[in-house]
Parts: sequence; C-alpha cells; structure tokens
Amino acid sequence: MIDHILISQEEIGKRLDELAALIDSAYDGKEILAVGILKGSVFFLTDLVKRLKTPVSLDFLQVRSYSGTSSTGNIQLIRDLSMDIEGRHVLLFEDVVDTGLTLRKILELFSSRHPASIQIAALLKKDIPDNRGIDIHYLGFTIGPEFVIGYGLDLDEKYRNLPYIAVWNPEK
Ligand code: IMP
Repeated sequence: MIDHILISQEEIGKRLDELAALIDSAYDGKEILAVGILKGSVFFLTDLVKRLKTPVSLDFLQVRSYSGTSSTGNIQLIRDLSMDIEGRHVLLFEDVVDTGLTLRKILELFSSRHPASIQIAALLKKDIPDNRGIDIHYLGFTIGPEFVIGYGLDLDEKYRNLPYIAVWNPEK
C-alpha cells in the first residue's frame, strides 16, 4: 500500500520549471530529439517538453528489466526508436535511476549510432552506490533506496497515473 507522499504534484511542477529553464539555456535553440524510455518516463517527458522553448522532436524506446519491486539485472530492448539519431542532439528521459543498468545499456547502444550529443534527464535518482558513476545532466530529485510509485512509476503496471510520487510499503 501507499505509505506516504514523497513528492507532491506542486513540487514536481516547480522542479520541471527549473529544469526546462536549464535545458533551454544549455541547448540555446539547437533542436533536441527527446527520447523517452517507456513507459515510466512518459509523464515526466511530456510535462517537461511542454515547458521548453527549444524545438523538440520525440521518440521512444522500451526496455524490460523489472519484475515486482526488484530488478532482474537483465535488460532487454523490446521496442527500438523509430528515428535515426545520427547527428542529432539526443536528450534521454528516464523516470528513476536505480542500479543505473538501464541507462548504461541504452547509452552503450546509442553511442554506436553516432548522435551529435547525448544528455540525460532523470526525474529521480536513488542515492545508492551502484549508480554513482552515472552522469545525470538534468535531475529532478535525489531519493532514498525505497520503492516509489506514481507520476509514471508503476508496481506491476499499477499506480502510474497518481499525480504525485509516493513510497510503497509492502507491509501495509
Ligand atoms: P535500473 O536499471 O536499475 O536503473 O532501473 C531503472 C528502471 O527500473 C526504471 O526505469 C524503472 O522502470 C524501474 N524502477 C527502479 N526503481 C523503481 C521504483 O522505485 N519504482 C518503480 N520502478 C522502478
């Protein structure tokens, strides 16, 4: 069950305003190819790109790694991009960086496709040693190691539509 609300809808909105301003000033009019990792990043990506003045194209890819509340450690690409990223400025959107395995795998794949640049926007990053080496250019919030749901994040496909981010407590 939901234990408590960790990040409210208002706090998310305020942080997205700040991130959008940072992205606009960094890209300085250069067109962004915003790539969302399905399905968790959809709310974050759409709410953020609506705030940008920079021109944006969208694409998505889907990977599978989680079962219940734990990562299987095995990342499978189950849907690839529809566009060629060669020479494009790719901004990759992730919902939550946990072990960082998903991002490492996608970065490895994308770098072989020769984009002009690649940066990462993540809504959440868990403060755990496994992901310390990963450079997140635009980060919403750092959280603890707890399992969270809402605002795109699911537990076995449920709770994605909650407008806030909440901590899941399996004991409750
Ligand atoms: P990583 O590969 O371990 O960094 O895991 C990243 C993916 O695992 C995310 O894109 C989510 O789909 C999922 N994930 C990790 N932690 C959570 C969580 O607390 N709630 C919901 N999904 C999570």
